[in-house]
Amino acid sequence: MSPLSSAQAGSLPGVTRQWPAEPPGAAPASPTARVKWLAAPSSAAWLEQAIAHPDLLLLDHAHCERKAASYAMQLLFRYPADEALAVVLSPLAREELEHFERVLALMQQRGIPLRPLPAPPYGSSLVALVRRQDPGRKLDSLLVAGLIEARSHERMALLAAHSPDPVLRELYVDLLASEARHFGLYWLLCEDRWPRAQVVERLEQLAGAEAELLAGFWPEPRFHS
Ligand SMILES: [Fe+2]
Ligand SMILES: [Fe+2]
Repeated sequence: MSPLSSAQAGSLPGVTRQWPAEPPGAAPASPTARVKWLAAPSSAAWLEQAIAHPDLLLLDHAHCERKAASYAMQLLFRYPADEALAVVLSPLAREELEHFERVLALMQQRGIPLRPLPAPPYGSSLVALVRRQDPGRKLDSLLVAGLIEARSHERMALLAAHSPDPVLRELYVDLLASEARHFGLYWLLCEDRWPRAQVVERLEQLAGAEAELLAGFWPEPRFHS
């Protein structure tokens, strides 16, 4: 079974619907149907590199959680009158900060200092694909956020299955459900605002670009490289 195959409605306030989980497969009409987020799986080379550099990956993971919170906050501020968006993204941002705190605590236990880390072009390249004008800007922003969440989920599932470190395996297992919930939430935010066919068409374009960004091997171990 794909590590991305299940996602259930979770504990975030105001969220009671189920959302679509990672496919494979085409996107049917039901809001609870499965949706294909990722156009290609992560490579074995990425997993091998990630497992070989657990401390560096933890540091990058901390930055990723903080950036995920920041991105949700940016959307909250950019669309201050979108109450339904706020109901979903405010608790999501808090949850990402909780993840950041958990990773940071493990780093402190292990004597890994928090320090800046140059980011690969993945995130900035995805954001560059976001259209400049609304409503396209809003749809693209939500889909880019969902894609990053889906990739995080896929890679955490790989690490949960293959890391030789039991503490790290436990960390990734614990975070998996949240990340699945997050890409599901971003999907629902899109589907509540645009026709499903329009969302799927744009997601396919962005997912193809996301997979291309990861096609080359990045020499520095990073969560999204
Ligand atoms: Fe997270
Ligand atoms: Fe997340």
